[in-house]
Amino acid sequence: MEPGNANNVLLSCLEKNVTKQASATATPPLSSSLADPRGLAQGLEEAFLAVRNETERRAAPLSPEDQQIQSMPDASPTKWHRAHTTWFWEQFLLGEHCPGYRPFHPDFAFLFNSYYVSAGPRHSRNHRGDITRPSADQVGAYRAYVDAAVVKFFREVGADKLREVAPLVEVGLNHEQQHQELMFTDILHAFAQNPIPPAYDPDWRFPASTRTGEDWLTLNEGIHTVGHVDDSFHFDNEKPAHRALVGPVRVSRNLVTNAEWLAFMRDGGYRTATLWLMDGFATVNNEGWDAPGHWRDIDGQWQMMTLAGLKPVDPDAPVCHVSYYEADAFARWAGKHLPTEMEWEVAARAGQLNDAFGIVWQWTRSSYSPYPGYRAIEGALGEYNGKFMINQLVLRGSSLATPEGHSRITYRNFFYPHHRWQFTGLRLADYE
Ligand SMILES: [Fe+2]
Repeated sequence: MEPGNANNVLLSCLEKNVTKQASATATPPLSSSLADPRGLAQGLEEAFLAVRNETERRAAPLSPEDQQIQSMPDASPTKWHRAHTTWFWEQFLLGEHCPGYRPFHPDFAFLFNSYYVSAGPRHSRNHRGDITRPSADQVGAYRAYVDAAVVKFFREVGADKLREVAPLVEVGLNHEQQHQELMFTDILHAFAQNPIPPAYDPDWRFPASTRTGEDWLTLNEGIHTVGHVDDSFHFDNEKPAHRALVGPVRVSRNLVTNAEWLAFMRDGGYRTATLWLMDGFATVNNEGWDAPGHWRDIDGQWQMMTLAGLKPVDPDAPVCHVSYYEADAFARWAGKHLPTEMEWEVAARAGQLNDAFGIVWQWTRSSYSPYPGYRAIEGALGEYNGKFMINQLVLRGSSLATPEGHSRITYRNFFYPHHRWQFTGLRLADYE
């Protein structure tokens, strides 16, 4: 993560509300400035506690057994997410900047470091579900211990140190928000493996689509600035901002729906090799895919696993849990294309995309590559984004699981092309 300019780093991302969100408590905007250390300390504390509380709010409906499961190597247990986000504060804030801080437990750095080679050895990602101890309660105690230490640090540290760590705190908050989204996607995947499909929240509802108006937005040929421009919060992969040639292209204002996807399925989409990339068709066959992820054919009716349990597929809702391979095949079947991330960004900046945020991340056909001149920051946090810039595709927007205040037009999410347990869908592009 790029710490950015400290003068403008006051969690300004949290002031941006370009998303339509389905859940989560808003993180309070910081009302202070770096020139006002007491105000800054209070603002950091409020933002910190709001994010930490949101993690616990998301975990609260889940039993210790629910929190233990790792249903596949890509998904992590809820308990691990709660502990790992806590380790992040311990490792990068308290351990580095709070003299005399004593870690909660000497083994937890090994257990809950994710992929930071620079931060030391770590437990295998594929076996996070094997860690039955510490218990969920002990992880709760770990969180409380670190929360208290961080709040004490904010209240007692000097003004200069506070200004120095403010960008790091902002990274920690955004990091934890990313894991909040994963908590939903990972537990949904786990529940989807259960023959008696549990509900995370029986009252949860899939967010309503705002599909309206013209179907296509036309972008004439033009040179546009893309990427994050100012010093408000951003991940390092959103910079440097640069100029890009975009268009002519038409970008669909609307997300692809389940009804459209069902037409693709009825037309033999999953069985027609000519629609698929070679790796995609191999994945379809190896995995036995004949529908989006979490769909079940029950007595001839398609149902899908949601946070409210198994629900009939709503034909008008945006399709969800499709991989890049599937999105690409659907676009080919429709005689269209997936947009590039630059086309998506220019269209979103024009404010002309329905449901750009808050329902499903949208696959683009852009490889997750560094922007021209990109440099990861020095130190262990330089591992946050840059080392993943290979063999993945960019998704834009945000999803129903994205915490409020965590979305922005320049945000670059990324997953491997076979991944579909996230809340992922698509919109189309056309060049005719
Ligand atoms: Fe993490």
